[in-house]
Amino acid sequence: MTTQKNNKNHFLHKHIIDVNQFDKNFVLELLKLTNKIKSNPKKYKNTLKDKIVAMIFYEASTRTRFSFESAVYRLGGNIITTENAREFSSASKGETIEDSIKVIATFVDFIILRHFEDDSSERACAISKVPLINAGAGKNQHPTQALLDVYTIYDKFGKLENLKITIVGDLLRGRTVNSLIFLLSKFKHNEFYFVSPKNSKLKKEVLKYLKKNNIKYTETENLQKILPKTDVLYMTRIQKERFENIKEYKKAENKFILDQKGANTMPKNAIIMHPLPRVEEISKEVDNNKRAVYFEQVENGLYVRMALLKLLNDYNYGRTKNK
Ligand code: CP
Repeated sequence: MTTQKNNKNHFLHKHIIDVNQFDKNFVLELLKLTNKIKSNPKKYKNTLKDKIVAMIFYEASTRTRFSFESAVYRLGGNIITTENAREFSSASKGETIEDSIKVIATFVDFIILRHFEDDSSERACAISKVPLINAGAGKNQHPTQALLDVYTIYDKFGKLENLKITIVGDLLRGRTVNSLIFLLSKFKHNEFYFVSPKNSKLKKEVLKYLKKNNIKYTETENLQKILPKTDVLYMTRIQKERFENIKEYKKAENKFILDQKGANTMPKNAIIMHPLPRVEEISKEVDNNKRAVYFEQVENGLYVRMALLKLLNDYNYGRTKNK
């Protein structure tokens, strides 16, 4: 799946495809570096000096795209990009992702790719001669989102173990959910509650993975009952654009909405997360609840992505002076 150099940085790979390529050491190393960068971002302003990064987004994005672009600029790098690659790149003339990546990789030092197909990252990495980061692949994985999610959890709890995590919404079509579950499963004694409409339940292969690894989980539609025992509440959007038809979407729409009353039944030190964008699933009033961290979570994405780019740059092109 990924190439791994034979040195002591065992946690690093040429490409970032999915969270299953990471181990606990990698996650902790990244969190440590993220803290350093967050406390003094200017120190890292030459990390990507003279490097060019291609941003290729075949699907819409606000957070991932803007935070990656900001991260590259803050690290001293340059960006080339296309608005809506589906329409404005040669994909619109029928070019395959493999051919596009082969061509783009000749011009740049890194590629950051968001694509609507589940296997897009694997296919692109198999072709790319430069490091490639999956910025969201269909309904499959969104590894950098999971990294910023665990950074946020660690920042609040000082640990990634012994947590009760409730994940709510479109668990079938949400890629952030898959990545977060796999990543948190690497840490001991976490327990999951999955709350979703019947037509949006978690993929069988993810449940199979949890069973195989003896990780406790419960599937339920009773969110109110679970809230008082939740440490981390991870709300997600019902992904309208990924439903086969509007009738199915209507069955899932607005089934689980977190309001202030529900949020206040959670433990005082619990946190409310959301990868965003939010539609109706978290009432606006909850934004003022001290448990709500979803906008902080977005900001953490900038520093986590800076840290990831630095590690990837050091690994592939040699260590930069600013550690
Ligand atoms: N969380 C997330 O991936 O947001 P965007 O789609 O706006 O990048």
